[in-house]
Amino acid sequence: MNYSNLEVQEMGKLNGKIAIITGGASGIGESLTHLFVEEGATVIAADINEEALQKISTKSDRIVGMKLDVSKEENWQELVQQVENEFGRIDILINNAGVTSEKPIEQVDYADWEFLLKINGFGTMLGIKYVAPTMVKNNQGSIVNVSSVTAQVGMGLNSYTASKGSVRAISKAAATQYGRNGIRVNAVFPGVIETPMTEKLESSVEALQQINALTPLGRLGKPEEVGKAILFLASDDASYISGAELAIDGGYSAM
Ligand SMILES: NC(=O)c1ccc[n+]([C@@H]2O[C@H](COP(=O)([O-])OP(=O)(O)OC[C@H]3O[C@@H](n4cnc5c(N)ncnc54)[C@H](O)[C@@H]3O)[C@@H](O)[C@H]2O)c1
Repeated sequence: MNYSNLEVQEMGKLNGKIAIITGGASGIGESLTHLFVEEGATVIAADINEEALQKISTKSDRIVGMKLDVSKEENWQELVQQVENEFGRIDILINNAGVTSEKPIEQVDYADWEFLLKINGFGTMLGIKYVAPTMVKNNQGSIVNVSSVTAQVGMGLNSYTASKGSVRAISKAAATQYGRNGIRVNAVFPGVIETPMTEKLESSVEALQQINALTPLGRLGKPEEVGKAILFLASDDASYISGAELAIDGGYSAM
């Protein structure tokens, strides 16, 4: 029996890769952190929630928890410097951290708008701004930005919708800017996924019934279902895919 071949067969899709996952300590990000580790990556779970970071860091030697507020330039500078010093490169960036709000337009003020745009929109842009130069040095890299179905079809949520629309736009812009450097940039558009973020929404039976009624698959999504789609885009399986938009919404946006 050739055991070295056996080892090769068992290799994951991200063996030896260094990945940064923002918001990597909860919900979709937490599920993704575990999936990436299972697939052989070392994951820098970058999150603002220190308690959740401490918890997830104990789960594997290949999960490194680092505190990051995605909306702060100096935080990104420090994080990228630290990762470069420790690992020498960054192969994958998942801009996943995000916040939400359900205010109708007539209740939105500048502070609400700024809060959503700063974290969801500017935070994604900063991730690309500080990680892409490291990827450019190696002439390879894969970035996946987590937008939302609300950036593709009307679903209320106003400032949130606008912030996720900016994630959609910056993904295309970055894909065109960095393609010649071997960097792929793609975006995913989850529908309603069962995570701490949607717990509030799930408590409203009426809202849940409405969404289910409008979703061809007739149910909400699970974090791991988003994770598997992100894994595909992040991995070399998607080596000729850049600037793509992938809906992970049970068919909601097809209605
Ligand atoms: N759950 C859904 O239905 C859904 C649908 C579409 C898109 N999304 C998007 O998916 C992403 C993940 O959402 P989730 O449902 O897992 O939510 P979640 O609340 O479970 O996780 C979000 C994570 O982001 C972190 N975070 C928040 N602000 C941050 C900041 N300033 N800096 C760094 N980290 C920060 C939180 O601490 C948390 O760990 C978000 O971008 C969200 O907008 C979620």
